[in-house]
Amino acid sequence: MAATTIRLSYYLCCLLLIVQVHSVNRDNFKTCDQSGFCKRHRSMQPGNSPYIVLMDSLKISSSQISVQLLNTKTNVRLVLDLYGLQGNTARVKINELEPLKPRYEIPVGDVLIGEPKQQDLKVLDKGAGSITLGLEDNKIVVSYSPFRIDFIAGEEPVVSINAQGLLKFEHFRKKPEAQPEEQAPANPIEGEEKKEEEGEKKEEEKKPDNEEEPGLWEETYKSFHDPKPNGPASVGIDVSFPGFENVYGIPEHAESMALKTTKDTDPYRLFNLDVFEYELYNPMALYGSVPVMWAHNEKSTVGIYWNNAAETWIDIRSTTADKNFFSKIADLVKGNTEMAQMDTHWFSESGVVDIFVMLGPRPKDVFKQYAALTGSTELPPLFAIAYHQCRWNYNDQDDVKNVDANMDSFDIPYDVIWLDIEHTNGKRYFTWDAHKFPSSKDMINGVAVKGRKMVTIVDPHLKRDDNYNVYTDAKNRDMMVKGGGGEEYEGWCWPGSSSWPDFINPEVRNWWASKFQYSEYGGSTPDLYIWNDMNEPSVFNGPEITFHKDVQHYGGTENRDVHNLYGFYVQKATAEGILMRSNNEQRPFVLTRAFFAGSQRFGAVWTGDNMGEWSHLKVSNPMLLTLNLAGITFSGADVGGFFRNPDHELQTRWYQAGSFQPFFRAHAHIDTKRREPFLLPEENMKIVREAIRKRYTYLPFWYTLFYHGFRSGETVMSPLWVTYPEDKSTFEMDDEYLLGSSLLVKPITEQGSVGTSVYFPGKDESYAGSQNTYVNAPLDKIPVFQRGGSIVPRKMRVRRSSSLMASDPFTLIICLDKQGEASGDFFKNNILQSSNADPSGKGSTKEWVEKLIIVGYPKLPQVSISQLMAIHSLYITAMIVTAEC
Ligand code: GLC
Repeated sequence: MAATTIRLSYYLCCLLLIVQVHSVNRDNFKTCDQSGFCKRHRSMQPGNSPYIVLMDSLKISSSQISVQLLNTKTNVRLVLDLYGLQGNTARVKINELEPLKPRYEIPVGDVLIGEPKQQDLKVLDKGAGSITLGLEDNKIVVSYSPFRIDFIAGEEPVVSINAQGLLKFEHFRKKPEAQPEEQAPANPIEGEEKKEEEGEKKEEEKKPDNEEEPGLWEETYKSFHDPKPNGPASVGIDVSFPGFENVYGIPEHAESMALKTTKDTDPYRLFNLDVFEYELYNPMALYGSVPVMWAHNEKSTVGIYWNNAAETWIDIRSTTADKNFFSKIADLVKGNTEMAQMDTHWFSESGVVDIFVMLGPRPKDVFKQYAALTGSTELPPLFAIAYHQCRWNYNDQDDVKNVDANMDSFDIPYDVIWLDIEHTNGKRYFTWDAHKFPSSKDMINGVAVKGRKMVTIVDPHLKRDDNYNVYTDAKNRDMMVKGGGGEEYEGWCWPGSSSWPDFINPEVRNWWASKFQYSEYGGSTPDLYIWNDMNEPSVFNGPEITFHKDVQHYGGTENRDVHNLYGFYVQKATAEGILMRSNNEQRPFVLTRAFFAGSQRFGAVWTGDNMGEWSHLKVSNPMLLTLNLAGITFSGADVGGFFRNPDHELQTRWYQAGSFQPFFRAHAHIDTKRREPFLLPEENMKIVREAIRKRYTYLPFWYTLFYHGFRSGETVMSPLWVTYPEDKSTFEMDDEYLLGSSLLVKPITEQGSVGTSVYFPGKDESYAGSQNTYVNAPLDKIPVFQRGGSIVPRKMRVRRSSSLMASDPFTLIICLDKQGEASGDFFKNNILQSSNADPSGKGSTKEWVEKLIIVGYPKLPQVSISQLMAIHSLYITAMIVTAEC
């Protein structure tokens, strides 16, 4: 009997895996119409706000005002807290005044790196209809009836909250008792008394405005029932950006960089999901969520961070600003011309309204403001920004050895070889398949002697097997996520029947981190790093392939409240584990598929299961640009495409594109043909090898970019408007981009293409000067250009891995602008200098500068070279001002 059961569940498991791999994805995921709260918020009409500010309740302190908001329809009171924050930022928080129980808020220190530092708010004017506050050079106007908040930067309105009147706050309420059958009370007098009591109670009660709507207290999607024990609890509000025509951000969607209006589609959805064979250019949710949005025009860049981890939808409309209103609240809007406006409408299934308004005014300012809240990308270890060789799966130790040897014999550098789920003993993470990987340490050491690393996959689902000690340990410590009934939650994933540790609990995260100790993770070494996958989490037989919404987490929260944070915490705990195993000496590298705001602090992100098709190569650029804009700068897409077999041309072009994207890893599905670069026909192999080698020559440049990003929160892969904010023609451009502000990249993403039109921004910095130029790009050429006026450090002696190049000398490529000038790191006032970036003063380098290549200068420049530097040669070329690299 037992044997039959096991076999049956094994078959079921296989069946489920097949279903996962071959089902049509759209049907697995909700549309707005299938989600009660989405429908309720979306059906609201602008201009009917029931909320007014109760001025009598106003409390003012140096950096905060606090005031009650009354819903005139339901009598429910909310409390609004408005804070001034350092760095041109404000925070708008709206919560229930007297919730039946506390509403979920993300603990400070997890996503927000700390309590944001406050900044004085000055009361500039307190009239009968509004209060005006000063925050640095900005004004904040809170209007009372109807309630709205407007942010004025200088003289321009830039952000308006609740201008459309779409604030909707579903307060916690008691579940209405099921109507009992009409039954005569046994004692009629007692019955009368009861009625009276109930009547009195009702008087005091708040009046819900939508009690008759279906789906408030339970919902069913396909065969999945959501009992919604807390009833309706969603929150939503509108945020408009007057004066703007473009908004960006809110990854992850397979979408253009400039977001589209959602008039004829569903709203953009943020709900971490494992979407099989995702479709392109639509607002469907994907693996990660960062609720941050920027609006940009020639004059300013502003944005908001919506601090809420529940399922969230965002509607976008392009409209015109209400000039009448703006001329009333201040004499602000001049002229009669219409002013464009982007209206956005945000709603989440639970939590509170918590909006950070970042007022720029320049792109680099908003990145800094956002980094002050959620942190910047931690400086990756050097190997992590080199080339990664992955596939599902490298089958055994010999396979690893052969790939490693072949890369060497074909002279193709690489830094990391990866092992997918098949390396484990039956998908039990932290274990090895004893037949295929009998001596993992020897294997790791075998690549490590060449300065290389390995990565293994460690997913968060644990096989429910009482002989698997990671599972039993978690179970015995009562650390698993619970189902709605309080039982250990069970679902299906790669190992079959699985349970999930509750990463929302800090103790569980510590426990997980301890599993990476060398003593715990047998067969691991300091050269082994980690890949967290399926951490949305992916549950093959769950609603929308994930947890049930009523899954119970630590602290009495439901998955509904914290869903988008689960993967964030998995990666956080893993990164902490890598730190712990080395007594905080080793910089972690952890790749994650699911993510949230702040994930940039814990490692890299990739765009999941893309396809080996040209369209997916093309979309990788806008997807990565958007991730960069949302702070996740260390990001990449599977080179070659995960599913399907790319032809040689596509694979070649993909390598070329990937070599100029921040995280550069080739990966492929288990069913695809082997496609390591040395297997390509010679012509393609040589081109791919050249692309990878080029990446290695640019590693000092990448490293410097990440260093700056770490310090300032700046993007690494940037839309052109970040460097050229006034150039309108770049606002929607997402097929070319800048690395830092020095390299312009226009990857070829069209089949058969042998050239492309490249837009060169900037008047003084390029030979073309703010116009398109056709550039030849036969298969062996990557259109990459260095900006005139910039200096790029490279290392031209490419070796087998990045660490073998650690002591090699630099070559500085100095591209002069039309004034004959260039500046960059290492180079100031014509003096070449170097200093130790490590504040502790630790760490020394044997690196030196061997060559300066000066491009675009007709005669020898007067360059003073610091005595400390030994420059072996100085190459001066008199090429065009913008040099092609
Ligand atoms: C998921 C990942 C993919 C991985 C596979 C097996 O589909 O996105 O990268 O290879 O799982 O682990």
